Amino acid sequence: MSVIAALLLASTGTAQAAPPPQRVTFDRYSLRIDGKPTLIWSSEFHPFRLPSPDLWRDILQKMKASGFNTVAIYIDWGFHSPKKGVYDFSGIRDIDRLLTMAQEEGLYVITRAGPYVNAELSRGGFPGWLVNQPGKARTDDPEYLAAVDEWLSHINPIIAKHQLGRGGTIILHQIENELALTTPSQSRYMQHLYDKARADGITVPMFHNDQGRNGYWVPKSSDVSLTVPGPQELYAFDGYPGGVCGVDNKPTKGAPAPDWGLYGPGGAKGGASASPKTPGFLAEFGGGWFDYWGSNGMYPCNAIQRGSGYQRVFYGTNIANGIAIQSIYMGYGGTSWGWLPAPVVYTSYDYGSAIDEARNLRPKALELKQIGQFLAAVPDLARLEKAPPVTIAGSDAVQVYHDRNPDTDMRLLFVAPKPSNATGDARFTITADLPDGRYSFASELHGRDAKLLVAGLNLERQRLVYASSELQTTIRRGTEDVALFYGRAGEPGEMVLRYASAPKVTVIEGQVASSFDPAKGDLRLTYVHQGLARVRIEGGARPPLLLLIGDVAAGQSFFRQDGLLERGPALVRHAVVRGSTLDLTGDTDTAAPLEVWGPVRSIRWNGQAVPVTRSASRSLIAKRPLPAPESLTLPDLMAATWRYAEGSPETRPDFDDSGWTVAGSARNVATVRPPTGQPNLGADAYGFHDGDVWYRGRFQGSAQAKTATIHHGAGGAGMLQLFLDGKLIGQHELAGGLPRPITTGVAEFALPPEAQTPGEHVLAAMVRVNGHNWDLDVDDAHKEPRGLISVSLADASGDSFAVPIAWKIQGRAGGEDLRDVARGPSNNGGLYGERMGWTLPDFADGAWSSMKLADATPYMGTSWYRTTFDLSVPKNEDATIGLQIGDAKTPRSPGRYRVLIFVNGWNMGQFVANVGPQRVFPIPEGILHHRGRNTLALAVTSDGAPGNGIEPVRLVTLHHARGGVSVTDVAVPTYRDLYPSH
Ligand code: GAL
Repeated sequence: MSVIAALLLASTGTAQAAPPPQRVTFDRYSLRIDGKPTLIWSSEFHPFRLPSPDLWRDILQKMKASGFNTVAIYIDWGFHSPKKGVYDFSGIRDIDRLLTMAQEEGLYVITRAGPYVNAELSRGGFPGWLVNQPGKARTDDPEYLAAVDEWLSHINPIIAKHQLGRGGTIILHQIENELALTTPSQSRYMQHLYDKARADGITVPMFHNDQGRNGYWVPKSSDVSLTVPGPQELYAFDGYPGGVCGVDNKPTKGAPAPDWGLYGPGGAKGGASASPKTPGFLAEFGGGWFDYWGSNGMYPCNAIQRGSGYQRVFYGTNIANGIAIQSIYMGYGGTSWGWLPAPVVYTSYDYGSAIDEARNLRPKALELKQIGQFLAAVPDLARLEKAPPVTIAGSDAVQVYHDRNPDTDMRLLFVAPKPSNATGDARFTITADLPDGRYSFASELHGRDAKLLVAGLNLERQRLVYASSELQTTIRRGTEDVALFYGRAGEPGEMVLRYASAPKVTVIEGQVASSFDPAKGDLRLTYVHQGLARVRIEGGARPPLLLLIGDVAAGQSFFRQDGLLERGPALVRHAVVRGSTLDLTGDTDTAAPLEVWGPVRSIRWNGQAVPVTRSASRSLIAKRPLPAPESLTLPDLMAATWRYAEGSPETRPDFDDSGWTVAGSARNVATVRPPTGQPNLGADAYGFHDGDVWYRGRFQGSAQAKTATIHHGAGGAGMLQLFLDGKLIGQHELAGGLPRPITTGVAEFALPPEAQTPGEHVLAAMVRVNGHNWDLDVDDAHKEPRGLISVSLADASGDSFAVPIAWKIQGRAGGEDLRDVARGPSNNGGLYGERMGWTLPDFADGAWSSMKLADATPYMGTSWYRTTFDLSVPKNEDATIGLQIGDAKTPRSPGRYRVLIFVNGWNMGQFVANVGPQRVFPIPEGILHHRGRNTLALAVTSDGAPGNGIEPVRLVTLHHARGGVSVTDVAVPTYRDLYPSH
């Protein structure tokens, strides 16, 4: 028995297992995993933005195949908690399942579980019910801390269970996000979060994500002056340099890449971080950017602005700065479906990320794959410090960051334009004192580009003296090493490898010249990057080396899955060796070649045997192309029969609102209040936190009642419709836009003559609530009220007069007590049709009128269109099918109307015709039934004027491949389950 076990036994009387050893540690350079310095190359994924859990695996596999070793996830408190004390972690909220999948797919995980996340989420991820707390959020207010503990007591144990060495692959954990207010109250709050995580069993190093490299919450142990100390072990920050697209939706030059480590402020002290004792850590680095209501549709441009070239320059600058933990935000953006979006964003959260919203790999993913494979191939990169400057001849427009690993003396030469946002042409010579001697070599840079070169590297069992080509990856294949290098097509390249004696060089393919210098033992290879050259080098007292030298496109065709090299198909998900057979799984989007280097004789692709031949470079090559997907035909929704019903009966004077909540007297803790003495009409006080909310106000008509002035909170591009006795008086829309959308408004409406006639009248108001503000600045902005804030009637001279209005309110059926738990708190608001279950697939709409969509006419208020369609996507194919409204080429319509899109009961987005820009709404498989019947319900809200009605609606294919992961439709209740008495 060990001493520790004996002590445990002595102190408790029973044998207890000693806690497993901490497998994640760090020093000032990097994390150490099981003692091994490890560079963390991560990208972000939000499970709540892809409500089809089987597809989480698709994203994780695509990230892994794109070269990442880690995934960072935000977890959205509000997504799991509709009501204080009520939590759900099942179905689309099954975080335990996601963490298991990440482990199965071989990815490390960084968890970022709030309590506050920001993330362009309504309330920044706070639950709806939290806005009713008087205490200030993100402070040490006891009521707030109690709420936070409630959440953390649920989520922390799930995280604890999936830590590396304790059942999963979580290596780091974030406790707060961009807490830029640093009073003693926040210090106590941070300590509380830290202590709670530790008490709940989280043992991995923890961090906070600083909004920029400000030095807020630098670990106490850092003894750095002028910073606010935090309780966590690591200091991390985020950054979004690189510019934004212009108003013309064209990429801009942006600013040069910042030096946020070794070459920046404080870097001279030797650290790559504002916290010299901890590793350089970018918890978020912009890999795209979000888009806002009213834009011209920036995502394609955002993908280019932070696309090829940007990635090499900016991520490369970070690596050269010794940032050994880097996470790209977003790896996959996804969809802010239902009422998830904060007022700043619309439904699509594509973000211009490497994996687009429809789950296609953008071209930039292929460049990421090259960077990621390189980082994985050279573990020496985890520990970098500055090396002596190099000499650059022939151009002033170039800079070279020269770094070394203190243990191995391996060198990184990061070659970038100077300044790094320059895009000219440069040809130059680099001379450097390298571990194997002083060498000069020529290089070039054209346009937005940079190169990560290595020198003095033990590459498998070979010695690389230097190379002007970039190393992509290596494998060891029995006695042979294989190394893949690449360069820009048409550019000359050279590399030197070291041998004890002249090796035998056989050029199998391509044009590669070689010479050997016996004095130094240098084998020098020269070539032009074009296609894929293949060279075998044998002898020279080293194991044989197969050298593959490609142009960029050839390099990008390679995957390195499970220790093998594969090339050809659009995606290789896994490579599993079973005896002498290799089982490959992956995707093709067209008929594709296949070539594999691995210790096998035969290959199966997605379960089918592939006839192969062996090439001169000892790879296996498929004799026939891998099959392409079949063509996919989608039903024509304009030819379909639709069912139609009017859906704003609340406006009618005789509408039965006896079940509604009386509004007025609830406690008001909102940041914006009505004038003293007026009732509290804010929807949140009555438990209605998401989506549309209806009000009905009874008052006695009077000659004075000439105008109604309404102060409302409707969020970004939100709206108010006001009715009197069943007739629309008018509507008021809020503008979207950056940097901050307008989220509240004051509207004045002239009242029609009915208001001036004696007797009871009913004002009815519908507020389309487009999200609560985030709490970015720790000012309780998420408590800005939603719905009506105040209503006053005025006479002809504009003087308001006291008239009692008896208000009632109705939002989502059940309020915080969800009727539809599976679809959850962000799915439904309070439209009549939503309350009646008209969104649900098996609702019987047979009594509704039947029509073709082309015959639709605008209606004053909200009207509903329902149809069904069948899909039969072949079983071995993956697709993302979307719904398009109107003309995809224009971001806005001439008409003024908006649509909530319900697919099989799921609110998959909002189209606002006159604001835009989103017209195409991807619907993930699992929500959409790819083999079976689907129900589409559209809630169209309009003022009823000519032209303000639904435009043509069609289904479009946004992603299509042969392959994919297997997807089961998400289990959800039916109309009969939710409305048993109907
Ligand atoms: C960061 C923040 C993220 C997200 C991002 C912009 O500053 O931490 O949550 O809001 O900005 O997409």
